[in-house]
Amino acid sequence: MFEIKAKDNMGRVGVLKTKHGDVKTPALMPVIHPRKQAVDVAKYGADIVITNAYLIYKDEDLKAKAVEEGIHKLINFDGPIMTDSGSFQLSVYGDVEITNKEVLEFQELIKTDIGTSLDIPTAPFVDREKAESDMEITLERAREAVEFKKENNIEMLLNSVVQGSTYLDLRRECARELTKLDADLYPIGAVVPLMESYHYRDLVDVVMNSMKELGDDTPRHLMGAGHPMIFALCVAMGCDLFDSAAYILYAEDDRLLSTRGTYKLENLQEMPCSCEVCTKYTPDDLRAMPKEQRRDLIAQHNLHVSFAELRLIRQAIYDGSLMELVEERCRAHPALLEARRQLGLYSRDLEKYDPRSKKSAFFYTGPESLLRPEVIRHLEKLREMPKKRDLIILPPTRKPYSKFTTGKLGEFYIYGEQHEIDLDDADFMVLDIPFGLIPLEIDEVYPLSQNDSPKTRDVDSIEFIEDFINEFVEYYDQVLIHSRVIKDLDIGLYDKYESSQDIRYAKDDVKKVKAIADYQFGVGAGEALFTGNINIEKSKKTGKIRHIYDGKVLIVNMRASDSYLILSKEGAKRLHNKMPYPQNRVVVNKDSEPFALEGKSVFCKFVVECDENIRARDEVLVVNEEDKLLAYGKAMLGACEISQFNTGQAIKTRKGMKK
Ligand code: GUN
Ligand code: ZN
Repeated sequence: MFEIKAKDNMGRVGVLKTKHGDVKTPALMPVIHPRKQAVDVAKYGADIVITNAYLIYKDEDLKAKAVEEGIHKLINFDGPIMTDSGSFQLSVYGDVEITNKEVLEFQELIKTDIGTSLDIPTAPFVDREKAESDMEITLERAREAVEFKKENNIEMLLNSVVQGSTYLDLRRECARELTKLDADLYPIGAVVPLMESYHYRDLVDVVMNSMKELGDDTPRHLMGAGHPMIFALCVAMGCDLFDSAAYILYAEDDRLLSTRGTYKLENLQEMPCSCEVCTKYTPDDLRAMPKEQRRDLIAQHNLHVSFAELRLIRQAIYDGSLMELVEERCRAHPALLEARRQLGLYSRDLEKYDPRSKKSAFFYTGPESLLRPEVIRHLEKLREMPKKRDLIILPPTRKPYSKFTTGKLGEFYIYGEQHEIDLDDADFMVLDIPFGLIPLEIDEVYPLSQNDSPKTRDVDSIEFIEDFINEFVEYYDQVLIHSRVIKDLDIGLYDKYESSQDIRYAKDDVKKVKAIADYQFGVGAGEALFTGNINIEKSKKTGKIRHIYDGKVLIVNMRASDSYLILSKEGAKRLHNKMPYPQNRVVVNKDSEPFALEGKSVFCKFVVECDENIRARDEVLVVNEEDKLLAYGKAMLGACEISQFNTGQAIKTRKGMKK
């Protein structure tokens, strides 16, 4: 019922399937008031809406009509409808006149597509005892809901809301317990007070801790989040659904939403966007209008900017530029910038979901970019790689660096023990922002060339580089640092390097493809793949490596856009032979073995295990439980998702071993 189509960071473009149609996510569900709905939200882009079952239940007329004709007739919307349970009223008024069981039965009776149990939205910063006992009740009610659904064989999809206030361990515990229940959707609740008070940093903590324990195969809904300013950030954390009463509540108050914040009509000289309303009317026109007409027009604008932002976010996910969008949006308010910085603490969580290669380049938009998963991942790879005796650190040139690093390289200073350097026993790396050190052999691999940053460095970047270099030089006996590099760096240096030999970088294509293979598939992959009579074919036009053979047998192709290696049948065999299980493997069950052998795509539900280092778009090996090679292809999802999903494609197979 939920499938992922594209991903970037923890954000995903997905499809949620319901009886009343499919919904493309991330999606916004406008809140519909069951009695006084003024705006036709479908007309402005809503594919799914949310309304309140409790308000209908409490109103005799609405209740009778809903029971008789169903909720879709009642609110005049024929797409999917989610209903809330009265929990929000509970949090505002302290009490509701309905039980969990009753509200579940009622939602089923009025044929809601997605119903909600009566969770308890615990406010932020309450006593721990209160947060705990509320959470226990929320969990109990969620269990009751799932049992109710199973016993009565009900089709209605179920929301199980994560609570736990601002206690992060409680959020994790609640999410973990709820995930065991196998509900259909997982909202994160009680975040409205955090958003209203601009506690976005706490919002990041609450959402990321909930996400740590929620399944990847279910949609996550950030309850009550309706301001477009925070959509990109929340999508990057893994939220798939938002609901908004904001569009109408703000309109009632003469306030216009935008991704840069909120505008009060009384302050506007200019209309803030180019929607139908903003191009047709001036602020004076609106101010002169009767209240209701004005409210509806502002609501229309508010819906427009909200849906436009979600379109932009989905496109950014397709392009691989979601974090650039987040960083741009988070400059709209200091509290958002703080939230972005807080998200940096969760980079390892994001990294598990972030594809290694993206269509768009990595843009450094400020010191926060140093915390991105791409950077963390690269530094981790550098630490793991086998080191030569010495290290030579070079200044950045145009990219790809290796193309412009030629001839005699200039003056160097020494760090560490002094001895005559053997250029064959030295690693050559360029120092640059944001990736710290980039070995020249792998500099064409995404994102090491596919990135851009300002030439004038900020203080944070310099400190970041210093810290990393100070750590990294310890792996080497002697480090030569180029004179143009050292002026930025505060590390203990010896003298100028004096020697009879010039420092030059000798390009070596075989070393290069081996280094790329190690970087891509793990240390040892280069030796595994490239043995025999290695023959490298380059593009006549660009000079870039295209195909690598052993004699006449193709081992790999190199993709021009990101320099990653694409296995051939021979390449897959070699990698499989030499690289130990489970590296680069996706293990499928007996049933799917013949299909994989034939070269058919592998679906998640047949995968029994998989290398935890696999990320979406990686080249992988498909094996059976005895580690027999069945096929090879491209992962559509990351390891976490492949293991959890029961629907959708895991591997787009390039070839089965039978053919
Ligand atoms: N709407 C906004 N917040 C919440 C919440 O925590 N629970 C429910 N059920 N609805 C909400
Ligand atoms: Zn507008």
